Amino acid sequence: MTSPLSHGFLDGDGRTWLDSAHQGKLPLAAADAAHEAIDWKLSPHQLSQARFLDVPDRLRSTLARLVRGAPDDIALANSASYGLHAIANAYPWVEGDEVLVMTGDFPSDILPWLVLEDRYGVRVRRIVPADRVVAPDELAAAITPRTRVFCTTWVHSFSGYAVDLDALGQICRERGVFFVANGSQAVGARPIDVGATPIDALVSVGFKWLCGPYGTGFAWIRPELRERLWQTKAYWLAQLTQADLARDDLDITLRRGPHDLDIFGTANFNQFVPWTVSVEHLLDVGIDRIRDHDDQLVTELVERLPEAGMDVLVAPAPSARSTLVYFSHPDRSRNAGLHASLAEAGIHVSSRGGGLRASPHLYNGSADIDRLVEHLRSASPGT
Ligand SMILES: Cc1ncc(COP(=O)(O)O)c(C=O)c1O
Repeated sequence: MTSPLSHGFLDGDGRTWLDSAHQGKLPLAAADAAHEAIDWKLSPHQLSQARFLDVPDRLRSTLARLVRGAPDDIALANSASYGLHAIANAYPWVEGDEVLVMTGDFPSDILPWLVLEDRYGVRVRRIVPADRVVAPDELAAAITPRTRVFCTTWVHSFSGYAVDLDALGQICRERGVFFVANGSQAVGARPIDVGATPIDALVSVGFKWLCGPYGTGFAWIRPELRERLWQTKAYWLAQLTQADLARDDLDITLRRGPHDLDIFGTANFNQFVPWTVSVEHLLDVGIDRIRDHDDQLVTELVERLPEAGMDVLVAPAPSARSTLVYFSHPDRSRNAGLHASLAEAGIHVSSRGGGLRASPHLYNGSADIDRLVEHLRSASPGT
């Protein structure tokens, strides 16, 4: 692994993990925290009221620091899909409203809105991009007076192309459209300041670039959008505490609160305790530093994969590149075999859409790129 930022991650398992776009590695400190959370459950007297309150509070404020937003604007989730569904199900739709999505986007960005078609007569229109992601002029041309929401990924899972969040968001602002961005393939690998970016919601999984356990995610929702949403659920732990249950005059009335959109089980200590430590670890290293490090590895991949005869399929403009580097053997039918042979050698990349995808993160170093390139070179000689 040998990266200056790899300290705090498991090394020495003989594996080269270049697949953070699928699953990020859990920091060792987060694994310790997970063990501690299991201990609480082994001896449940440790599951104090204070811990029930602290688990969601600490995660919420850590995620707020990550996106430079306010803690009350963060909804805790178990996925990216959760936040997208929460918004789709709570928006005050009127028949004939439109949602714009992109053909070929990750399914999580399309499915939550399709559910609305039969229920509310909402029309989901798919922009077919000329390239791999929606360009600002394509969005501008697609918006109509009925468009309420535009939803797409910040970094496209199936090409690694990054959209221009500022340009797309600016168009949405000018046209009165809410911009819901899925940052699952970017948050943790690059910084974001939600106050300075023209987006209305940012959802993300926690288990890729944020190095958390599976079954984690969040949604940041700008108050202007949140205040428009119907209350679709009323979870007692978002309004009361366990201590309230001890009262003999418990008054159950419907209230609205900033955390109404949280997933149920907000003190989910098994997942949220280690995830909080993962995000704290990334923040301690520094997201700007991680971005610079990851970008350096992307540059090395782009320069060196052709040495192994591979076609590199990243966006031509460096500003549209991400930490997802797609490549292919010139004979695409060879990719499946290469993927299997890499895995057998302990080098892990993804196989997606007929191509191969390497996605390096802070725990990777140049030695990992060397290993990938050398194996590809020896596995496909003469290309
Ligand atoms: C952009 C994007 N969104 C979402 C997901 C999956 O998250 P969820 O299961 O929460 O939809 C992935 C990958 O697994 C992804 O690449």
